[in-house]
Amino acid sequence: MLNSLEALPPDPILGLSLAFQEDPRSEKIDLGVGVYRDESGDTPVMRAVKAAEKQFLEEETTKAYIPQVGVAEFNAGVLDLVLGRDHPAMVDGRASTVLTPGGTGALRIGAELIKRIKADATVWVGDPTWANHTPILKGAGVNIATFPYYDKESSTVLFSEMLEALDAASPGDAVLVHGCCHNPCGADLGIAEWRQLADLVVAKGLLPFIDLAYQGFGEGLDEDAAGVRLVAEKCPEVLIASSCSKNFGLYRERTGSLTSVAQSAEKAKAAQSHATNVARAMYSMPPAHGAFLAGMVLQQDDLRQTWQEELTAMRNRMNELRALFVRKMADKGSPRDFSFIEQQFGMFSFLGIDKERIQRLRDEFGIYMVGSSRVNIAGISETNIDHLTDSLVEVLKDG
Ligand SMILES: Cc1ncc(COP(=O)(O)O)c(C=O)c1O
Repeated sequence: MLNSLEALPPDPILGLSLAFQEDPRSEKIDLGVGVYRDESGDTPVMRAVKAAEKQFLEEETTKAYIPQVGVAEFNAGVLDLVLGRDHPAMVDGRASTVLTPGGTGALRIGAELIKRIKADATVWVGDPTWANHTPILKGAGVNIATFPYYDKESSTVLFSEMLEALDAASPGDAVLVHGCCHNPCGADLGIAEWRQLADLVVAKGLLPFIDLAYQGFGEGLDEDAAGVRLVAEKCPEVLIASSCSKNFGLYRERTGSLTSVAQSAEKAKAAQSHATNVARAMYSMPPAHGAFLAGMVLQQDDLRQTWQEELTAMRNRMNELRALFVRKMADKGSPRDFSFIEQQFGMFSFLGIDKERIQRLRDEFGIYMVGSSRVNIAGISETNIDHLTDSLVEVLKDG
């Protein structure tokens, strides 16, 4: 039977990475990869995480399963981090969370919950959105519809078009939105837009489903959660898929969580029980290591302070690189205005250049990015910025 399977083509991003690795040019630049990079191009273990890990290895006495909902310190820490201790949903005890294998696991379980609640529910996703959203939602068997989100030509969020499209949603449908640092476009909703979105969600009886994969990468831990918190205040129910991959650098440990804000404490517990029930049939028990580490970092003052300092440095680096890129492009006489890059947040932005220019950058200058022109800002450095901006100006010369 396996004989009937044909090998699938390699994932385009992984293929790009491979081509980059094989490129012998020393000045090559990888802007395709989806992980944070420091100035030397590395993705080191964060110091706070390393310190927690040392302590944890000393203290660990068993590898027996952890409770299905997760690690108490982690779950409590995540709720505080995402909603904030004083949020009405926290004060009322109307929020519950479950540990999941990464943000991806949280998204999948969230989608399964949506399907349990309404078998023919549609989940509305932005165009564009993270490339894995559609496969994850398809895996759960929900219907998928799209709303316009961002226009690459004008580099703007299509907010009124988004609201117009969502007007066609039915009660019980869910709207999947990025909490901050939109992947792939870097353009986020402002607080007034979050408010309008929340109003529409309430008026139409929709369920907000927020993907918070980059908290702390944009403007700050609290600032990046402002939209999520507002929606959780104005809407009676919310699902939040959060990830510790980027902000704790725990990528391979698969650490995330699905938070349910419900109308009562009892219903929040009920949502949690369904989430663990879904997980039980999919992978049975959650991975523990990353959750123990993130839990310790969140709960121990010294570790938390170190982590926040490290996260601030990462965020500042990305924001400074954005500003530097814009300045260099302008100084070098770029025929296009890239100032929008400085108004966006997080690890990604679209350059908004066509496929031919993307190919020229790769062939002639060793600069690699995915076909949509999405670039990883953290792949830029003080060392490679001149090669990048010189090359980009060169390929933009003919218009
Ligand atoms: C928008 C978005 N959501 C969710 C995730 C999930 O990350 P993970 O499953 O590694 O925690 C990512 C990772 O790239 C992402 O970019």
